[in-house]
Amino acid sequence: MIQIAILGFGVVGSGTAEVIEENKALLTARIGDEVNIKYILDLREFPEHPLGDRVVHDINIILNDPEVVLVAEMMGGSHPAYDFTVAALKAGKSVVTSNKEVVANFGAELLELAREHGVSYLFEASVGGGIPIIRPLQTDLASNKILAVSGILNGTTNFILTKMIREGADFADVLKEAQRLGYAEANPAADVEGLDAARKITILAALSFGVLLDPNKITTKGITGITADHIAIAKAFGGAVKLIGHTEQLGGKTLALVMPFFVPAANPVSHVDDVFNGILVDANMLGRALFYGAGAGKLPTASAVVADIIDILSNKTSERKMPVWKVATEADMASSADYVCRRAYLVEGCVRCAEKAKAALKTEECVMLEGGRFAVVSAPMSETEATAAFASTGLEAIVSLPVLD
Ligand code: HSE
Repeated sequence: MIQIAILGFGVVGSGTAEVIEENKALLTARIGDEVNIKYILDLREFPEHPLGDRVVHDINIILNDPEVVLVAEMMGGSHPAYDFTVAALKAGKSVVTSNKEVVANFGAELLELAREHGVSYLFEASVGGGIPIIRPLQTDLASNKILAVSGILNGTTNFILTKMIREGADFADVLKEAQRLGYAEANPAADVEGLDAARKITILAALSFGVLLDPNKITTKGITGITADHIAIAKAFGGAVKLIGHTEQLGGKTLALVMPFFVPAANPVSHVDDVFNGILVDANMLGRALFYGAGAGKLPTASAVVADIIDILSNKTSERKMPVWKVATEADMASSADYVCRRAYLVEGCVRCAEKAKAALKTEECVMLEGGRFAVVSAPMSETEATAAFASTGLEAIVSLPVLD
């Protein structure tokens, strides 16, 4: 029997126990031995839970038990999750986690520490909930150079945007529903302000380009400023407004950003709704691949945690697959002002103004709207170029959005 411990018995932690118990026979067959949850570390007691007798409140009980070979950390937040991870790796225990905050902030160091101690640090559940994306980037796409990764990385905000646009629902009500369903972070500001997606895109950037950016320093905008005017752009051309994380390399530097984009209907990401995530990987040999599925929620996320548990317990060579990440300096970070894409504007003005905007933005894509407004999409250009081009028209944009083609 293989003994493991769970740190944090919230939504994902209790889901992990559920997946292990529910799929016990399958796990035993795949690992070749039975997995037993020996300890559950939490501040609370769970007297009604069938595993309530496994609850402990002192991490040292787990660290000092040589029978425990693996720890699943699902506490959330940086501390004490990071500190307990360091202690577990140093004690020779492999760690799996869904904690994107810890991976994005300390991943390079923790991977190194795991290597030093001959154990594994795996984090499939940290991005995309239950969607396989970490392991495919590391292994299945290993023969490709990754050109860009873009997509919807936060289930809560996609759920909110979908309900607001489709049903005209109220922001606060939908957020409450997302919390009730276990999608939102303990502090949902991390979801709606874009920080959760920023952490995830820095993890994907590190997997793609080997450089771990500081998630607190990349350009990050959330959905709190989204209004009917942004939606009007999507309606004018066909498509949707989505909170997008994007990473690529620019002039040898790594760019990562999170912001609301207009996603035209031709891009499959525009059709990714509700709590689903959709992650587009552009690879130089494969071309584009879309990874789609439940991006948050108890059992989908827990299933990814348990996949890492199975990987480690059934494959003693897991540690060799772990990536090496360089912690980014300022010199490694590309500026979002240099990011080249098409840009959509909603403008108040007549046909003559629209002609002026089309000329300045080097485009023919323009739609006249009711109420003396028009929507126009520029040719691809950087933010710096687009700002200058639009300013030259003397017009004022009501709102503007980058376009994800
Ligand atoms: N709060 C996150 C989300 C949970 O909504 O995507 C999954 O990482």
